[in-house]
Amino acid sequence: MQQVVQEVIVCKKTDLNPGEMMESTFGKHSIVVARASDGEYYAFLNRCIHQGAALSKGKICGAPEPTDNLGEYDFKREGDILRCPWHGREFDIKNEGCMLANSKFKLKNFKVKVEDENVIVYK
Ligand code: FES
Repeated sequence: MQQVVQEVIVCKKTDLNPGEMMESTFGKHSIVVARASDGEYYAFLNRCIHQGAALSKGKICGAPEPTDNLGEYDFKREGDILRCPWHGREFDIKNEGCMLANSKFKLKNFKVKVEDENVIVYK
């Protein structure tokens, strides 16, 4: 009988600075653990919903937002966006991994908690 993983220490708090991510595992799943600009931790399946790239090979970045001047953009939210390494789709770390271009699509995400020095993913 297969054992169901309920709770796994995926990294130490100090393994990630705000705006960084790393690969880890949760049971048989490869996951990416990301720390947003505000220091909160998030975890997603390490597989892009487009064509399956390992998101941990991508980049944590920001995203352009339109200004009041037509055609001008500000680059904002540095540290809160995960960009896929293959075709550049961008996902909002702080909003359940929703794709910026179309928020009806999102990454599979996992629950995360911090206890003492450990970052824990759980079901
Ligand atoms: S595989 Fe991620 S954008 Fe294409």
